[in-house]
This record gives sequence, structure tokens and C-alpha cells, in this order.
Amino acid sequence: MADSAQTLDGPSRSMVEARGLVKAYGHVRALDTVDFRVETGEVVAIVGASGSGKSTLLRCLNYLDPPNEGDVWINGHLMGAVETVNGVRKASEREIRRHRADIGMVFQHFNLFPHMTVMQNIIEAPIAVRAMARGEAIEAARELLASVGLADKQDAFPAELSGGQQQRVAIARALAMRPRVMLFDEPTSALDPELVDEVLRVMRQLAQDSMTMLVVTHEMSFAEDVADRLVFFDKGKIIEQGKPAEVLRAPSHQRTQAFMQRILRRGQ
Ligand SMILES: Nc1ncnc2c1ncn2[C@@H]1O[C@H](COP(=O)(O)OP(=O)(O)OP(=O)(O)O)[C@@H](O)[C@H]1O
Ligand SMILES: [Mg+2]
Repeated sequence: MADSAQTLDGPSRSMVEARGLVKAYGHVRALDTVDFRVETGEVVAIVGASGSGKSTLLRCLNYLDPPNEGDVWINGHLMGAVETVNGVRKASEREIRRHRADIGMVFQHFNLFPHMTVMQNIIEAPIAVRAMARGEAIEAARELLASVGLADKQDAFPAELSGGQQQRVAIARALAMRPRVMLFDEPTSALDPELVDEVLRVMRQLAQDSMTMLVVTHEMSFAEDVADRLVFFDKGKIIEQGKPAEVLRAPSHQRTQAFMQRILRRGQ
């Protein structure tokens, strides 16, 4: 990128790095001094109780909701800042949108544009933000739709699709921007149980294709099979992290143990 800002303390070599992130809503510290790093190609599962700060972390990383304190680097680029000859200055909204183009985001609710077809949903941002030629965007969208198993749905409207199909379109739409990292916020928790696997299958394939991924999820078997690392949040802090199988089988923190027991009970 033309304006790839370096940092005062040196650029990060990780795909995602956050240092000293604080985000407060009134007196609630949704993020309480979080340091966090994700290497290129790494898949990190983020788990924790409701209200522990998982969604806030994702929103701070992509600057949809900028942190009160701390710094975020995406692919070595300091978010929200631009380096000039006179030093680092705050980025404008437009510049932040451009920084965000490297980050794909998939939410619990699919957020597709209801008045646009599947194809229009996918090509809109690449044309508007990446200035991609329409023909090229359509070609890329066809390939992406095939890769998520929806080659025959390009002319459908979102309301004509199942939840699982809509979520796969949402993933294809995020990928159409050619992001360097994908953030998923509970992508399967609004789905009927029988539709969960088709979405997880697409995410598994993406991980196999070496996409860097952060996945907030309650799907522990997915986390164990696919994630390289599991990060456990509690009250705005990371209290435990490690290889998923180890954290899941033998959590060392009492609050992680209690959380895992609740999850396991629910899964029975
Ligand atoms: N826009 C907001 N305004 C006020 N408080 C907020 C806002 N967003 C989050 N919070 C608060 O910040 C804390 C962390 O919220 P967050 O949504 O990050 O939790 P979460 O771990 O994603 O929870 P869940 O599993 O329910 O999605 C909560 O106490 C929440 O009430
Ligand atoms: Mg959340």
C-alpha cells in the first residue's frame, strides 16, 4: 500500500498485532489492556463468556470501533495512523476505510444487502473500494461462489437463500476484497444446527488454504480441529491461551474450567 505507515517503535511483522488495547463503555472496560498477536497463516479461536470482550476485540482490530488506548497493526500497518515526513498523524475516515480493506469480516447475522442479488452483493465493494473492473469482479465472484458451493445462486436474492447459504455468500463477499486476514464473529451461532456444518466446512477450507483467521466461536470441535491456538477471554482480558486441545482438556485457570464445563454440558 502506498501509505503503509511504520510505527514509532518499529513495525510489526505479525499479520495482526495489538498492544495495550483498552476499550471502555462508561465504567465497563470491555477490553482491559490486551496484548495480542496473530502470525501470518495462523488460525486463532477466541472463546469466553458473554460480555467478556470478544466482539469488542474484533471491532477494535478493524477500527469499526477504535480503541481508547493502544495500537493495532494489520500486516505491518498501524491502523488509524498515517506516517508523514513530520511524523505520525491520525488517519481520516477515508484512510481508515482503506486500511480496513485488508480485513474481511463475517458477523453472526449475515448483513447482506437485501435488495441486491448474490452477485451484486459480492462485486459491490471490489468495484467501489478496490476500483476493480466490473468484468474482473464478476469473474472473481463466480470463482468464489463455486468455492463456497453456490455457483448456481448468483442471481438469487438473500431472502431466497437459507441461513447457511447466506452466510456462505457473506464469506464469499468478504473474500472478494482479497483480505489478508479474516475476522469471524460467531458466524454459525444464528444458524439452525443442520446448517452449521456447511459454513464450518467453508471456513475449514479457508484455513487449509493458509488464510490468517480469527474466529470467535462456541464450536469447540471446530476450534480443536482447525485452530492453531485458542485464546480465552474473561472480563476484557486474555486469561489463558495455548494449543486448543490442551486448553480444552486441561484448562489451568479456574474461570476457563468453569466455562468449558458449561459449554460441554450444553453440547450434551
Ligand atoms: N456499543 C456498546 N455500548 C456500551 N457497552 C458496550 C458496547 N459494546 C459492548 N459493550 C459492553 O462491553 C462488554 C463486552 O462486550 P462484547 O460485545 O465485546 O462481549 P462478547 O464477548 O462479544 O459477548 P457475546 O458472547 O455475548 O457476544 C459488555 O459488558 C458489553 O455490555
Ligand atoms: Mg460478541
